[in-house]
Amino acid sequence: MTRSSDFFLSRQESTPLIDVLTTLKNKPDAAFYVPGHKRGQGISDSLRYLLGEGVFQADIPELPELGSLFAPDEAMAKAQILASEAFGADRTWFLVNGSTCGIIAAIAATCNPGDKIIVPRNVHQSFIMGLIVSGAVPIFLNPEYDPIWDLTLSITPYSLEKVLKENSDVKAVFLVYPTYHGVCGDIRSIVAITRRYNIPLLVDEAHGAHFKFHDALPPSALSLGADLTVQSTHKVLGAMTQASMLHIQGARIDPQKISQALQLVESTSPSYILLSSLDGARQQMALQGERLLTHTLELAQIAVENIKKIDNLGVLEFTEKRPGFHDLDITRLTVNVTALGISGLEVDDIFREKLQVTAELPMLSHLAFVISIGNTKKDINQLINAFRILNHSFSSSPDLPLSSAPHPLHPSPLKLSPREAFFAPKQSVAIEQCIGKISGELICPYPPGIPVLMPGEIITSEAIAYLKKIQKLGGMITGCTDTNLNKLNIILN
Ligand SMILES: Cc1ncc(COP(=O)(O)O)c(C=O)c1O
Repeated sequence: MTRSSDFFLSRQESTPLIDVLTTLKNKPDAAFYVPGHKRGQGISDSLRYLLGEGVFQADIPELPELGSLFAPDEAMAKAQILASEAFGADRTWFLVNGSTCGIIAAIAATCNPGDKIIVPRNVHQSFIMGLIVSGAVPIFLNPEYDPIWDLTLSITPYSLEKVLKENSDVKAVFLVYPTYHGVCGDIRSIVAITRRYNIPLLVDEAHGAHFKFHDALPPSALSLGADLTVQSTHKVLGAMTQASMLHIQGARIDPQKISQALQLVESTSPSYILLSSLDGARQQMALQGERLLTHTLELAQIAVENIKKIDNLGVLEFTEKRPGFHDLDITRLTVNVTALGISGLEVDDIFREKLQVTAELPMLSHLAFVISIGNTKKDINQLINAFRILNHSFSSSPDLPLSSAPHPLHPSPLKLSPREAFFAPKQSVAIEQCIGKISGELICPYPPGIPVLMPGEIITSEAIAYLKKIQKLGGMITGCTDTNLNKLNIILN
């Protein structure tokens, strides 16, 4: 071990937020501050039964020793500096409202109302909310699409450069890296382009917070030169749900603007339990990340090898670079089930009800499973076994055009900006009469949260057919005022 890595590890051992919370939790103090449960003394019996008192004793507000999330000093500042060192950033912000708030803030910090931002159409709904908040105007790029897998991939450097040549006034480029299914595009070449044009590259790395800590994973966005990245630490590492990070590097992003924008979208009473879970997750990865991820990668490999041997199943693998697909995170396991004659949504029901396995993302033709540092060999065996039983119970059926309803990612142009559409008066209309009208709602199957219809977009028959199909098969659709999907809110033009 070199002296500098020795120094890094000894610094990374410390957990400033956890240490202060531990001290405060045990302090014999009469609490006359919020929250009202007063360190667990006032909680209901049902909550005590569910969570115990410990978690409430640590549920302490922004006391001076902890430091403020919005003007970081004390432990808060130290914890974020340690995270920036561990994740390879110039500066890091802890987030308590998921990557969702980081993405909205990233857009608001880089784009003024009317500014253009380039973005792939398979973007998460939080990006659209960022457009509504900031008033930025999207230039959508269609990502590459794999019809065999019914999967959207990344945008290509070529398609990005083409749009940049046609639009000299673009203020930011937004990239999803990796996708929900672990697919990584050619971010290296995309960085080269955005640097040449001197435009900030903002990356939704919600599913890639682990990349930095193992060489067998795709490289992290920061290591390849992205200006800003937002990571859902809670999705793939050991932080609690909603705990995420936003990192920046270089001079193209103004840190003051990020801090201001974050205040728009985060609570003034951030949970220090969530924040300290970021502190712990960072320490764990800095000290043990490589070892833990080696094990995770081994588990993922076992799952891939065994599931692909089962008849009628396909496993998404990376064979060679192609447009929109330059790398794959194998801890994201995607299994195609179309040859079994049932949809991924139906498989998910069978798995959950009968086989004690729950997927992350069931879709029409496949299911994605997140394999992370928390999984065990037993989990993997259970998953392999569930697929064996499934294959045994279902014979292949030829009449299945399941992937004949791909995500309709080729939208008609926006008639209104998402912000204009959000604030425009709306009318509720029978869904059959909505084709050709302007959508007033952001409608997504969730997960994955990729909008099928966004405010301001023309409603197409493909979009409605896709939503109906997902609904029929039991998928969850969010964003529509009428949850039965009989009516949609449209904007009259
Ligand atoms: C690609 C992508 N970006 C952003 C988000 C939002 O992340 P969070 O749940 O941490 O707010 C998600 C959530 O699923 C996502 O899949």
